Amino acid sequence: MSHILVKRIKGTNDIFNDELKYWYHIERIFREIARRYNYSEMRTPIFEATELFIRGVGKETDVVQKQMYTFEDRGGRSITLRPEGTAPVIRAFLENDLSTGGLPKKFYYMGPIFRYEKPQAGRMRQFHQYGVELIGSSDPVADFETIKFAIDFLNAVGLRDYELRIGSIGCGKCRKEYKSALRKYYSDKYDQLCEDCKRRFNTNILRLLDCKIDAELAKSAPETTDYLCDECAEHFKKLRIYLDSLGIDYVVDGHLVRGLDYYTRTVFEIKHSSLGAQDTLIGGGRYDGLVEELGGRPTPSVGFAGGFERLILVLKQENIKIKDLPRCQVYIATVGEKARMYGLKLAENLRLKDISVDMDLMGRNLRNQLKHANRINARYSIILGDEELAREIAIFRDMDSGEQTEVDLDWMENYIAEKIKEGD
Ligand code: HAM
Repeated sequence: MSHILVKRIKGTNDIFNDELKYWYHIERIFREIARRYNYSEMRTPIFEATELFIRGVGKETDVVQKQMYTFEDRGGRSITLRPEGTAPVIRAFLENDLSTGGLPKKFYYMGPIFRYEKPQAGRMRQFHQYGVELIGSSDPVADFETIKFAIDFLNAVGLRDYELRIGSIGCGKCRKEYKSALRKYYSDKYDQLCEDCKRRFNTNILRLLDCKIDAELAKSAPETTDYLCDECAEHFKKLRIYLDSLGIDYVVDGHLVRGLDYYTRTVFEIKHSSLGAQDTLIGGGRYDGLVEELGGRPTPSVGFAGGFERLILVLKQENIKIKDLPRCQVYIATVGEKARMYGLKLAENLRLKDISVDMDLMGRNLRNQLKHANRINARYSIILGDEELAREIAIFRDMDSGEQTEVDLDWMENYIAEKIKEGD
């Protein structure tokens, strides 16, 4: 029988060892900013009824048309691995009656997202998002708060040189006018469009603006911000006033449209030049119709999400210093059964003191135990053989300097605790 390795699925990743320090860094800071802005966590299931995304994200979007992992479960229901986090949070908001007790409700989330896309740097099939949803306010100050949250987060993570782009795609009323202007603009260019855009021309004309193939044609297309009705224009103006007054740099982009259908009015993206083709770190905006679309009362809302993997790419490229993972503090090397018994007790006592301890689990000789202690980058080691045990001492070794000290066994725990405190 041949034992061929089963490999992970294309577009997915295993995350371990030193790589984890980036994940912990982002998770810690995202939670910290959420606390400062008073957002509470929402954890939703990884799979949902397919209909949630068809209704929420939109039938004609690429996400729903081409990218969902959809399957029938054993009960014959159509299930989809979540391709984004907003529709699930709104579903949970409605299902759990979270509108009671006053609005807005402010949630943050982190977790895996699934999209069947062509994998490349910064584009995965299972990736991870952090995001927030501010549910229940139509006031532009809510748009401002989510944008400011995103900026504070990126700054706290250590990023510079990102670019905030904002736009407004208006409400149903003004978007209708904008769409007909767009249709007019593209109608005599129809033959030059790529196959996807020919289809989108009829189904989802806004998407022509961010097609990579037809980018040249989009350059002189009409701008969303020129077609806003009075209310939408006022809303967008107020948002800009808030951003200006808090000194946040941004670029107004009249061609900014997003890949999901639920957006109304404000849309925004934060990009980083070092990312190349997949340059969007964070995307978000207002979605005033989604709650109603999913069966609730009209509840204007706004939010954003960003991808862990892309952010990590930038952190690495920009050489941003990230706190190292905690080291193993003490390795206990023993020779002989008696010393091993003593070592087990010592390990137990040190762990109770919150010290991280590793010890030989392989029956290695002393030389190889110390080699292993080196390999796992232990900070200190304790060497204990029968002879030391007889003299009631052990050897304490500083693994970084190589310095060794004989320490009385009954004093060892205090000695280590002191050393670790000094090193902090
Ligand atoms: P989105 O623009 O589709 O928005 O995704 C947000 C972010 O997720 C992107 O800016 C990118 O960083 C990351 N991302 C998207 N696709 C991939 C992929 N295939 N591989 C790696 N990273 C990826 C949303 O999902 C909306 N739910 C955001 C939102 C929340 N709007 C309002 N509230």
